[in-house]
Amino acid sequence: MNASEALSRIREPAFLASGVMNSLLHVIDTIAPTDYGRAYRQVRPYTMSSNARLRALNAAVEQVVQRQVPGDIVECGTARGGSAALMGMALQRAGDPRRMWVFDTFEGMPEANSNDPDYEHARHYTGTCRGELAEVSSLFGRLGLLDRTHFVQGLFQDTLPRTPTGPISVLHLDGDWYDSVMVCLEHLYDHVSPGGMIQIDDYGYWAGARKAVEDFFRQRGIAPSLRYIDYSGRQFSKP
Ligand SMILES: C[S@@+](CC[C@H](N)C(=O)[O-])C[C@H]1O[C@@H](n2cnc3c(N)ncnc32)[C@H](O)[C@@H]1O
Repeated sequence: MNASEALSRIREPAFLASGVMNSLLHVIDTIAPTDYGRAYRQVRPYTMSSNARLRALNAAVEQVVQRQVPGDIVECGTARGGSAALMGMALQRAGDPRRMWVFDTFEGMPEANSNDPDYEHARHYTGTCRGELAEVSSLFGRLGLLDRTHFVQGLFQDTLPRTPTGPISVLHLDGDWYDSVMVCLEHLYDHVSPGGMIQIDDYGYWAGARKAVEDFFRQRGIAPSLRYIDYSGRQFSKP
């Protein structure tokens, strides 16, 4: 983020409020003797997601398990693996056997393009958020999550059309750019079971992510009500 971008974000009350809320949650979960607190402390070094968004993912997994919504957990945009690992640990604690599908280039962000309204800002991020597949797989190994996980390396645009995920109960979209979010919705939305949860990480941060979601809803003639998690994240249950 350059200086003028940082300044304009800092002036937004919602951005500031999210920062305060996430800092407080971070302090609480750094010491909380809860299942979530323990999991949070294990994944924190491996994620750039906020505490509120991680809590929302954890709750989504607990909800689909409790309501027996069929389907696997799918994350598109994994970087160093923290948010996916947190969801896997929630499954583990519940003794639930469902599988996880983890999609990423594992080579960092692809280029944004003119579909991204904030391209002039986004273009500086090519290659950032890099997580190596070996590092993610080693984290999943230490946490006992390897047996249930499929790692799918490559551009979503190439891997999604040839990967048969089957039914999905939780879909986490964390690909930042318009094309990355749109291709995931086009290929995966119809696989999400009714009552399944969809979380979009960058809806309030990257204009392309938000535009992709809005364009997709318009194309489908649907208007799900999005729950506000924090400045950046939104979640909804598929009707
Ligand atoms: C913000 S990071 C994900 C953060 C992660 N969920 C965490 O917990 O820290 C975004 C990731 O999406 C991946 N990504 C974005 N667009 C992609 C695409 N079209 N195909 C494959 N991976 C993509 C990038 O490689 C990057 O690792």
